[in-house]
Amino acid sequence: MIKKTKTIYYAVRDIISPKHQRRPFVNFIFNTMNNRELVGCEIGVKYGNHALQMLYNLNIKKLYLIDPYLDYENYTMNKDQVAGKYWGDVYTQDDYDNAFDIAKNKLKKYKDKIVFVRKKSLDAVDSFDDDFFDFVFIDGNQKLMMEDLKSYYPKIRENSIIGGHDFDGEYMSTSKCIIDFAEAKNLKLHGFYREWWFIKGEPYNEDYLGSGVTKEYYDGMIARLKG
Ligand SMILES: C[S@@+](CC[C@H](N)C(=O)[O-])C[C@H]1O[C@@H](n2cnc3c(N)ncnc32)[C@H](O)[C@@H]1O
Repeated sequence: MIKKTKTIYYAVRDIISPKHQRRPFVNFIFNTMNNRELVGCEIGVKYGNHALQMLYNLNIKKLYLIDPYLDYENYTMNKDQVAGKYWGDVYTQDDYDNAFDIAKNKLKKYKDKIVFVRKKSLDAVDSFDDDFFDFVFIDGNQKLMMEDLKSYYPKIRENSIIGGHDFDGEYMSTSKCIIDFAEAKNLKLHGFYREWWFIKGEPYNEDYLGSGVTKEYYDGMIARLKG
């Protein structure tokens, strides 16, 4: 009974969420770039929840959805009611295959606008020309954050956006990658509530996140990580 109620709850939430939510990265693009058709990419798609928000809210010409849906490193990170997983449970290949089916089904209304690329991000990158995307959202394997950033950055056009998830005190290693990349490439870091993004060509500015979160705060986070 509880399982059934939960299933219904998540099904309803998934149906209504794109109308009622716009996560920060999507919201930024919605407010700044939606006056033209966009070619985008998401690395790490899983159930397609964020992809659905992008397709629902943005003026998408094509959205490339990169996810191998393959077991990796005995992934145990998340509580996941859809897969019936709790902290410490390991995902099986059946869970990934099921996630792919859910994503395909969820996004079927947009089938002419999406391309599923069932590969690892770094195996897929060479299939895209440089200056190809208007935006790239990174939410795949956290351990590959820096490699994903370095290899996909050339794939976005000037004045276009690369960003992702996993930027806050719970994600120290990814946060450090993002700050290091911003400094190395002289880019201003934008963000809100665990999401971050750069606009290619917009110069570095120490006002991290543009919301008063300072470099000192993140340096402190990183010091704690190392200590
Ligand atoms: C946190 S989930 C993505 C959630 C999705 N972005 C959302 O917000 O709705 C992470 C996904 O990354 C995928 N993944 C893991 N390693 C990857 C890689 N090297 N390249 C692309 N995707 C990867 C996993 O299969 C998993 O489905």
